[in-house]
Amino acid sequence: MELTPDEQATYDGERGPVHQKAMEILVALGKIYGARSLVPVTSVQIAGVSYKNLGMPGKEFIRWWVDHGARVRRLATLNPAGIDRKRWKELGFPEEFSTHQREIIDDYAMLGIEPTCTCAPYEIGNLPKFGDHIAWSESSAVSFANTYIGARTNREGGPSALAAAIVGKTPCHGYHLDEQRAPGVGYDVTATVRNEADAGALGIVAGRDVGSRVPFFSGLPPFETGWYKQLGAAMAASGSVALYHVDGQTPEARAKTVRPPEETRPVESLDPAYELLNSGGERIDFVSLGCPHASLEEMHRIAEMLRGRKVVVPLWITTSVATAAQADEYGYAAVIEGAGARVVCDTCMVVSPIETFGYETVATNSAKGCYYLQSWCGVETRYGDVHSCIEAACTGRWPQ
Ligand code: F3S
Repeated sequence: MELTPDEQATYDGERGPVHQKAMEILVALGKIYGARSLVPVTSVQIAGVSYKNLGMPGKEFIRWWVDHGARVRRLATLNPAGIDRKRWKELGFPEEFSTHQREIIDDYAMLGIEPTCTCAPYEIGNLPKFGDHIAWSESSAVSFANTYIGARTNREGGPSALAAAIVGKTPCHGYHLDEQRAPGVGYDVTATVRNEADAGALGIVAGRDVGSRVPFFSGLPPFETGWYKQLGAAMAASGSVALYHVDGQTPEARAKTVRPPEETRPVESLDPAYELLNSGGERIDFVSLGCPHASLEEMHRIAEMLRGRKVVVPLWITTSVATAAQADEYGYAAVIEGAGARVVCDTCMVVSPIETFGYETVATNSAKGCYYLQSWCGVETRYGDVHSCIEAACTGRWPQ
């Protein structure tokens, strides 16, 4: 890897141990992935926040940077944590877990990172422009930034994102390069895609098939923003897709800077995905919406569906503090909470210690959520659109 004189001096320790360690992380990764140089980034999004994932070793890793006076030099925001910082007690999060979690978030904030705790940073001001090089780490956010915005990021790990925020650069390889953004396999979709759940189901079908290639979808109806979130999140969970293109819709496909690949496969049915994601029975214990974190528009729609109704099983709508504050301002949060549901901030069903809550079957409109609830949290799931999930919350049963 070629380093500039300034980068080399940092690597050699002339700017102290913090910058040296951050540069060592970036150079090590750059060598592994064959990067020729570093590229400046305009923004960073840091995963590796929940105490459920980090445990004590991760917590001590972050403390090292605090103890050595590290500060980030780019806009950097945090991924969801394991608790709602404000309402953790009321929502039943374990006390010891919550204490560790709050200390981790405080440590990140000491580094100059915005403690936003969201996987939808683009909803709340961490919004790159087309062509910007960035270093983001949460898989659905990475997919959204690459695909919908046309920014350029690999899927960073928590430590490499932190290192990028401190140095202000990231190794230039993978999706930072034009040639790596070219689609490798096309999916001609004749299956019906009507809503966010179908988009997520399509993500499961394609994610399990595509391998390490970039998918290119054709035949899709005009997509709503939330459908991109679900399709990308599902493909990131079921495969390792960090970028996709939609014919005539995503920016690089519209600009024709990427061309349809020669190999195209048909997608005639989403049934295999629905079968996989509906592992649970009819009785529902818990309903979760807001994976990826809900936008203001999604909160509005959910509030309208809940107006005048009451939930009979817990319903969480997970989002950021900033979006929740807007939902509060416009009265959506009052309607949601008036129905007995909860606007839950900073966390989600997957990165919170949900397995300690004793739920057996969780309903959600997130294919990614189902995927991880089944595989990581040992919980059965029911999967469908937001209407089905609201119905399940208000009746305790999955609608026929
Ligand atoms: Fe976000 Fe949690 Fe879903 S981090 S994408 S809400 S699993």
